[in-house]
Amino acid sequence: MSGQSVDQLIHREQGAIACPYPIFAGLREADGVPYNADLGAWIISRYDDVRAILRDTERYSSLSPTGPAQAGEALMAGIMELMKDPEMAAVLGSNTMTRGRVAVLLNADPPDHRRQRKLVNPAFRPDRIRAMEPAMVEVTERLLADVVADLSASGATDVVKRFAVGLPMTIIAMALGVADDDLATFKRWSDDIVMPVGNHSPSVEQVKGFLISTKEFTEYFLAQIAVRKESPTEDLLSDIANARIDGEELTDDEQLGMLQQFLVAGNETTTNLIANIIRRLAEDPALQERVRAEPALIEGLVEEMLRLEAPVGGLFRQAKVDVEVAGTRIPAGDHLWLLFASANRDGCKFASPDEVDPERANVKEHLAFGNGEHFCPGAGLARSEARIAITHLLGTLRNIRLAPDNDFHYGDSFVLRGLTGLRITADVA
Ligand code: HEM
Repeated sequence: MSGQSVDQLIHREQGAIACPYPIFAGLREADGVPYNADLGAWIISRYDDVRAILRDTERYSSLSPTGPAQAGEALMAGIMELMKDPEMAAVLGSNTMTRGRVAVLLNADPPDHRRQRKLVNPAFRPDRIRAMEPAMVEVTERLLADVVADLSASGATDVVKRFAVGLPMTIIAMALGVADDDLATFKRWSDDIVMPVGNHSPSVEQVKGFLISTKEFTEYFLAQIAVRKESPTEDLLSDIANARIDGEELTDDEQLGMLQQFLVAGNETTTNLIANIIRRLAEDPALQERVRAEPALIEGLVEEMLRLEAPVGGLFRQAKVDVEVAGTRIPAGDHLWLLFASANRDGCKFASPDEVDPERANVKEHLAFGNGEHFCPGAGLARSEARIAITHLLGTLRNIRLAPDNDFHYGDSFVLRGLTGLRITADVA
């Protein structure tokens, strides 16, 4: 045991975020299911329990997937503080602030959720993803040129900033049909809007960023929706702007909520996946050589890194009725934190769970994309992006190694786990 506890993780201590796995192992080995008062939730750590709850939308609700309501208290306290500043009071008073706050996709329950998924699923069908692959290759090659330029100039580069951020951001912007607009602004919106996920005590500065970005995002996309309603184009934004569910148009708020989820859910997560794979390859030269020699293993490697370093560590459900999990009675109304990252290392499901094995028989059975009705619609997109990114990286660079000056710092969240930077050295092939 590392001596870390789940409280340290929830309070976002860097050591616990960087290596939460001994904490999860302790949770899996304990009897029953523990309740954590700071989190306000029961913690579900074993594979079978997490999967069964994910598949049971009858008894478990998704209305608060990022945690119980008290998680919003710090956000509210920050907002009250900011109200004292006249400039911010104007932002907070604007009627765009509450837009998009409706139950959609991630935080919706059946039957609404099923209707919404029917609408968005076609945009992520395998043939649609395949059609986007040439663009993914082009963007990857462009980003790799920057990586190579850095390596030639200084011998090292940060692959998070120079490589892993750019691909998902550019591709989702392209899919939405806003590709030529300001990617740096989208990235800022995405980072700021996702901030409260896994951060239950944000600073006033963080709350300020969240509010300003939410307002800018809302104004921008309301305008884009209006344009697409007037003259539809072939893109996801037009699909959403003009969609009808059972003959009814989506409301503006539902449309905004969906767009927010596409922008936010797909960006940081896929960036973190790509960075995690590069780190593992840089740390394990034998694995790197094996995968470079046999690129067919890359798909399995992507799955293994999703399993071992789940970018979404865990999300919440709320019990609709009294339930029992692993012999523990949980009353209706209580929240449960489903730890995907722990379930993925459950030795009852995966043999030698802490080892990377791209050829393991059940390589795709991890819960990094969830399971059941809320299974990530962007999974195919993320998988293709990661496969293409790693294939081209390995083709362009040899001897990828960690640079000596890494601090391996992770983002400030107990839900979304990812390196803020990763410096590597390499030879250009
Ligand atoms: C490595 C990358 C990704 C990871 C690890 C990931 C993880 C997840 C997980 C665990 C869920 C299930 C949530 C739940 O059960 O409550 C989910 C849902 C979702 N993801 Fe992803 N995701 C990734 C990429 C993407 C991408 C690229 C997009 C879109 C462009 C996306 C959009 C969504 C949306 C809209 C939902 C909500 C679906 C629903 O509730 O029906 N994700 N994702």
